[in-house]
Amino acid sequence: MERLSVLIVEDDVQLAEVLARFLRKQGFEVETAADARTALEAMLERVFDIVLSDLRLPDRSGIELLQEIKRAFPVTIVLMMTAFSSIDSAVEAVRMGADDYLSKPLQLEDVRMRIERALERRRLQTRVADLQQQLTERYRFGNIIGKSKPMQELFKVLERVARSSATVLIVGRTGTGKELVARAIHYNSPRAKGPFVDINCGALPEALLESELFGYVRGAFTGATESRPGLFEVAHGGTLFLDEVEALKPELQVKLLRVLQERVIRRVGGRENIPVDVRIIAATNQDLEAAVRRGEFREDLYYRLNVVTLYLPELRERREDIPLLVEHFLQQYARENNQPVRRFSTEALRLLMSYSWPGNVRELQNAVEYALTMSTEPVLTIRDLPPHISGIAPTERWAPPEREPRTLQEVERRHILRILEETGGNHTRAAEILGIDRRTLYRKLEKYKIPRDSSRRGERANGASHEG
Ligand SMILES: Nc1ncnc2c1ncn2[C@@H]1O[C@H](COP(=O)(O)OP(=O)(O)OP(=O)(O)O)[C@@H](O)[C@H]1O
Ligand SMILES: [Mg+2]
Repeated sequence: MERLSVLIVEDDVQLAEVLARFLRKQGFEVETAADARTALEAMLERVFDIVLSDLRLPDRSGIELLQEIKRAFPVTIVLMMTAFSSIDSAVEAVRMGADDYLSKPLQLEDVRMRIERALERRRLQTRVADLQQQLTERYRFGNIIGKSKPMQELFKVLERVARSSATVLIVGRTGTGKELVARAIHYNSPRAKGPFVDINCGALPEALLESELFGYVRGAFTGATESRPGLFEVAHGGTLFLDEVEALKPELQVKLLRVLQERVIRRVGGRENIPVDVRIIAATNQDLEAAVRRGEFREDLYYRLNVVTLYLPELRERREDIPLLVEHFLQQYARENNQPVRRFSTEALRLLMSYSWPGNVRELQNAVEYALTMSTEPVLTIRDLPPHISGIAPTERWAPPEREPRTLQEVERRHILRILEETGGNHTRAAEILGIDRRTLYRKLEKYKIPRDSSRRGERANGASHEG
């Protein structure tokens, strides 16, 4: 193995000599410099693995030297030596990117230990860099990450699907990446230069949804003071993503079926057939086949939509993807906030891997971001994770301590939560049971800050698994 090299920057010649002798005995190659200028010259001559620098130098401050080194030689490990009294500047040095600091008077054993620790950390970072490399190569399709068998299978199918213009139905529980997949298909398809238009069929009342999708002509209804194209026309030449397609009311199901069959639309109140060239991708977190059996969803439309069906597996069914996803989100956050990449402790990562993730990848992403905002440390621990994740035994349910609700609002909130739990998070069913419409339910979820995907745990979506 090649010997590691150390540059000692210290104007106290005697101290520099003692250190140099000690480190040579430890097997390092050692050079010394008495000021910053000499140090930088030496670093231009050859690469050093480690720089051990005094904080106070005759020509420049150690902090300046540190910044210079970090800019020019980012992988070199820099340890700062400070007099015991200047602990503040030591902290400052670490903030500026020093790997560690040593207080004077130096304990040689301590020097050895800290160098070793810094080297160990660097080795870990190199491993992270390897992971990063893997991420960009094998384990992704567009922005979709996954090395598990079902995800690898999905990538293969996606490649073929993207090349075609076939209608696609994406089935998966909340947060499994349905929208991400829809976008990946569009942006890897021959239509990539055309528009990607998405609409949530469950978020608008029927009449509004109809005019959004099909547009309207002037005078079609009160307030239609001029004609407007619908999303089918807007998406011409591109892709229309119909999210929560199960929420379409019967009348709109008929109209959608007609578009799929005849590739023409008619604006609300209009008589003209307008040809549209649009690829349809639909998504659902419900069991559409069961909805067909219940007579809620048209069978003929179902068959038109599921020319190709993609099942997105739940996160807990592919736990081997968790470390990659965590790494992906850590890097993404660092990039967006212009910060160094942080990581999770082994214990925290273990917990992340064993948790049940009812909210799937979205919940994982939120947990990672939560930890990153809760902590400023380079290593995130269990303590930094959201309480409902950190406070439980793995996969065990979390239940808040029971207390009699006092206000009507509190009773309402709890009742909604209970019904959501009961229906496995099925908004349509929950709204039915509660005797309100979906929009009202959504408003209440918002009001009570209940996440849309709460309680979609336990119950499995039929067909939301993937036989790999
Ligand atoms: N395999 C994946 N790789 C990377 N990021 C992912 C993956 N799956 C999901 N995500 C991320 O998780 C979040 C949720 O994904 P997305 O919105 O596509 O889920 P969804 O299935 O549409 O959820 P919902 O049913 O609640 O609408 C997004 O930020 C997405 O980028
Ligand atoms: Mg979605």
